[in-house]
Amino acid sequence: MTISFKDRVAIVTGAGGGLGKQHALELGRRGAKVVVNDLGGSLDGSGSSASAAELVAQEICDNGGAAIANGASVTDLDAVQGMIDATMSKWGRIDILVNNAGILRDKTFAKMELANWHAVLDVHLTGSLNTTKCVWSIMTEQNYGRIVMTTSTSGLFGNFGQSNYGAAKLGLVGFMHTLRLEGAKYNIFTNAIAPIAATRMTLELPGFEDSAQRLAPELVTPAVVFLCSDKAPNGRIIQAAGGRYYSADVRENTGVDLGLEASVEDIEDNIEAILDMSANVGILERTPHR
Ligand SMILES: NC(=O)c1ccc[n+]([C@@H]2O[C@H](COP(=O)([O-])OP(=O)(O)OC[C@H]3O[C@@H](n4cnc5c(N)ncnc54)[C@H](O)[C@@H]3O)[C@@H](O)[C@H]2O)c1
Repeated sequence: MTISFKDRVAIVTGAGGGLGKQHALELGRRGAKVVVNDLGGSLDGSGSSASAAELVAQEICDNGGAAIANGASVTDLDAVQGMIDATMSKWGRIDILVNNAGILRDKTFAKMELANWHAVLDVHLTGSLNTTKCVWSIMTEQNYGRIVMTTSTSGLFGNFGQSNYGAAKLGLVGFMHTLRLEGAKYNIFTNAIAPIAATRMTLELPGFEDSAQRLAPELVTPAVVFLCSDKAPNGRIIQAAGGRYYSADVRENTGVDLGLEASVEDIEDNIEAILDMSANVGILERTPHR
């Protein structure tokens, strides 16, 4: 194995099942000491159980690795701080954070109750904020960190019935891009994974029938584990689905300079050039202007 996590400490949220479990097992297999976090609730975020995280931590230890289970909800800043404190007192450092915990509350926008907006943003976006905020100063002091945000094609491209989830998932990309800039000088690299996998989250969706093998969550894990490694890029979005790995990006075109007198009519006259994306640059090569 060329990619090893010996002496590295990793936290994976939502690692009691699905994708997070596979990420945690593989990090453990490759020598990381792993904190297996999971609230152990249902798909919509209700309920809790410590057993899911405990079973995965036990599996890592049975395989000869080192792991502890943690049942904190990522939405609870005090509980997250408790997890970080417990990790620091046991292992003295935190190198890797995989923000993976997630819930779904799908409804078309017309039918979505505001409570379902807040619940979804709370777990995906604020949950990732809470964990990242608690590890950030540890990583800057260590001059080392690898953070992975779990985004989704629903955020990158939109998906019917997922306005809350899509908003949270694209929010994570914006969050990542600022951390990419602010973390670089501390050797903290932040990236995002956009997975597609057969888990309880996708079980009922059209197109996922008989997908257990074809879209095994284990096939997302290699990309996530690479993003946790010394060789990770910074500020990239890797999509992973059924053994195919590809990138997404935020792009802009060169546009039209309409000068200081620009009017609504000028926009109307130039709308085709303004919207034409045939020549464009990605977020990494653009020259910022504000
Ligand atoms: N499966 C896919 O195709 C797919 C696609 C795009 C994005 N994702 C994302 O991947 C991540 C993992 O999803 P999955 O498909 O493995 O589903 P999953 O439901 O199996 O896993 C999510 C895990 O997060 C845990 N969790 C939920 N709320 C939590 C909280 N407040 N605190 C701690 N843990 C909590 C759950 O208990 C669960 O074990 C999610 O962020 C999801 O949005 C999945």
